[in-house]
Amino acid sequence: MVKAKVFIFEHYFDGYPKETDLRLVEEELPPIKEGEFLAEAVFLSVDPYMRAYSVRLPLGIPFIGAQVARIIESKNVDFPVGRYVLGNFDWRSHTICDGKALKGHMFTQDPYILPDFGDLPVSLALGILGMPGNTAYFGVTEVLQPKKGDTVVISGAAGAVGNIAGQICKIIGCTVIGIAGSEEKGRWLVDELGFDYFINYKTQNLEEALKKVAPQGIDCYFDNVGGDVSFTIMNQMNRFGKIAVCGAISGYNEQNPKILPLQYTMVFNELKLQGFHVHRWLNRWMDGILQNLEWIKEGKLKYHETVTDGFENMFKAFLGQMKGETVGKPVVKA
Ligand SMILES: NC(=O)c1ccc[n+]([C@@H]2O[C@H](COP(=O)([O-])OP(=O)(O)OC[C@H]3O[C@@H](n4cnc5c(N)ncnc54)[C@H](OP(=O)(O)O)[C@@H]3O)[C@@H](O)[C@H]2O)c1
Repeated sequence: MVKAKVFIFEHYFDGYPKETDLRLVEEELPPIKEGEFLAEAVFLSVDPYMRAYSVRLPLGIPFIGAQVARIIESKNVDFPVGRYVLGNFDWRSHTICDGKALKGHMFTQDPYILPDFGDLPVSLALGILGMPGNTAYFGVTEVLQPKKGDTVVISGAAGAVGNIAGQICKIIGCTVIGIAGSEEKGRWLVDELGFDYFINYKTQNLEEALKKVAPQGIDCYFDNVGGDVSFTIMNQMNRFGKIAVCGAISGYNEQNPKILPLQYTMVFNELKLQGFHVHRWLNRWMDGILQNLEWIKEGKLKYHETVTDGFENMFKAFLGQMKGETVGKPVVKA
């Protein structure tokens, strides 16, 4: 008899999530049936979408999330014991699955066995070699489409998506400016990842700093945050500038009144702005992962994870990401 630990969504979040909004329970799992496998969480992801999508979730269900799990029992030939699987198995320590997306789940992507990452850690399947990596890869190459020589600004630049988006723009040959909320993050972007400039939006005047590092204006903007930061960046964009709207984390936990005034800038500068969701490329999912894997092996892409120990600490990691305490991709080691 296997007991699963599960975080149940207990209360809708009001502002930043509170620990009491989730409840940790134990569930006894039944024996697996023909066609099913039992997987044990090894690494779990925390992501801002969990906060954004929480308003659409019913209460009383396991809280949403993806994980890398090891298959410990199987009656499904496609999911053999010992292999690692990526699944939207939520905040659970153990999951029974029939090889398809969990029934009634918000996310319909089927679980998949991880491709061979060589010597790289399997946790990367939650970051650079998974959803955030693909968001950066497709967001830059398919939506933003910067050209060699363009000046590109990335907000949320030291986060899971932003740091990879910036590195891919460097591979393309752009001048890349990263916006993030601490000196430590900025040093990492410039010294380790090869970003050209870094601006700390918490301590510097963003408008003036942008004028200094991009006197010729901004051609492309990869927007992870929305709000004040985006308002300032978009107002300094060149005519026919392009904007990929990846996310708007500044509005997830607080009201954001800065949306409408941007319409004027959009018109005057004839900007092209496009929102996108990474699930548009589900049919090319492995293309993104394998391209990023190749770039890692060639030394062109680097990665960093912020690892929190212990399934019980899921909430701490979740809140820490939204409060700006994490660098690169946050994951929880079960
Ligand atoms: N479109 C898609 O398919 C898709 C897929 C994945 C993610 N996303 C979106 O992409 C964005 C980044 O996701 P991620 O996983 O890479 O998260 P992340 O950047 O690792 O974490 C969020 C970061 O945002 C920054 N932040 C928080 N509040 C802010 C504010 N008010 N103003 C400016 N920055 C703020 C914090 O860093 P600082 O220290 O820099 O403040 C924080 O660490 C999110 O908006 C997410 O929803 C979209």
